[in-house]
Amino acid sequence: MPLDILVGLQYGDEGKGKVVDSIAENYNIVVRFNGGNNAGHTVQFDGGKLKLHSIPSGIAHDSVQNIIGKGCVVNPSELCAEIQRVQMTLGRTIEPRHLVISKDCAVITPEFIADDINKSQTLIGTTGRGIGPTYSAKHARTATKLQDVIFNYPMLEPYLADTDQIIWTALEVNKDILAEGAQGTWLDIDHGQYPYVTSCNTLASHACTILGVGINYVRDIFGVFKAYTTRVGEGYLENEWDRSLDQYSNIFNNEVGTTTGRSRRCGPLNLFDLNRAIKMNGVTKLIMTKSDLLNNTSFEVIEDIIYCKHLESWSSCSELDENFARFIDYIVDNVGCDIFAVSDGPLRSDYSFNRLFNRSMVK
Ligand code: IMP
Ligand code: MG
Repeated sequence: MPLDILVGLQYGDEGKGKVVDSIAENYNIVVRFNGGNNAGHTVQFDGGKLKLHSIPSGIAHDSVQNIIGKGCVVNPSELCAEIQRVQMTLGRTIEPRHLVISKDCAVITPEFIADDINKSQTLIGTTGRGIGPTYSAKHARTATKLQDVIFNYPMLEPYLADTDQIIWTALEVNKDILAEGAQGTWLDIDHGQYPYVTSCNTLASHACTILGVGINYVRDIFGVFKAYTTRVGEGYLENEWDRSLDQYSNIFNNEVGTTTGRSRRCGPLNLFDLNRAIKMNGVTKLIMTKSDLLNNTSFEVIEDIIYCKHLESWSSCSELDENFARFIDYIVDNVGCDIFAVSDGPLRSDYSFNRLFNRSMVK
């Protein structure tokens, strides 16, 4: 019966893909509920590395049915190419038991992409994938739904379905569903810094609205945040770090956009914003990622609008490392929510501690 929801608590790129892949085997269904191929979710496992844009991050698990849900916008030819790339990496065919696409997704057209590139890519720093114009058309009730053009894409046809029906049936027979969010809290069209936002809602509650599932089905809300902040595109980034400083070169080198290849802007963890994001999403399970990139780096954390706290560096993301333990305590004190898992590397099993999932994952 339960629906769990996983969302990003910053500006996207929090490492949601890795976390979804780590927990996916606990679910029958992983369903994406927002965005399109503006997203870039990286999933790395022993057999290879997947860069996903529209396909949900549970796809590396043979037992999981992944759904591109109602509320997503789809570029059909890009999706065909993505399915082919994923099949190559996984070395197996993706069947409808692995992937289903909602017949109701609004279609991204070449005209919408051109419009996005001409009008918004420079101004807002969009990914140029046609996301804004497609959602605009959807809300103007002029968009084309995938089912209306599917005959042009015979490769996608077997995957097309009434996903509402699949989700309701699954909930009725007590299957476990994970709704996977794209982008992040501060890119939400209503709650981010308008107009430097994406064109849909990104908060956890939106999963229920758009998937058509009552909020009483929700069990846990996973909130994923990175130990520092990154942002691609325009808009405000509090205390943004200077790219030329050697101190953060390791982080800057690691922070390249999965979708556009753009260098991400970086700055300190903002606990004031994190606190709000946790409340806005109703997070019950908080997960920190990429703290390993701060190993042996001294840095500051934003506590509130005027106060920055300097923290002593740690050498490993272990609870046994005094400075790292202090960092965790400091976050928990400020945001009022315990941290359940710390991801300290890109692989499925890279967790320095993990109170959430299968204990066998703990290194
Ligand atoms: P759009 O979603 O392409 O319209 O871009 C709007 C803003 O959201 C830009 O600042 C993009 O860089 C940002 N954005 C969109 N998708 C993602 C994502 O998956 N991760 C991080 N930023 C994103
Ligand atoms: Mg990303």
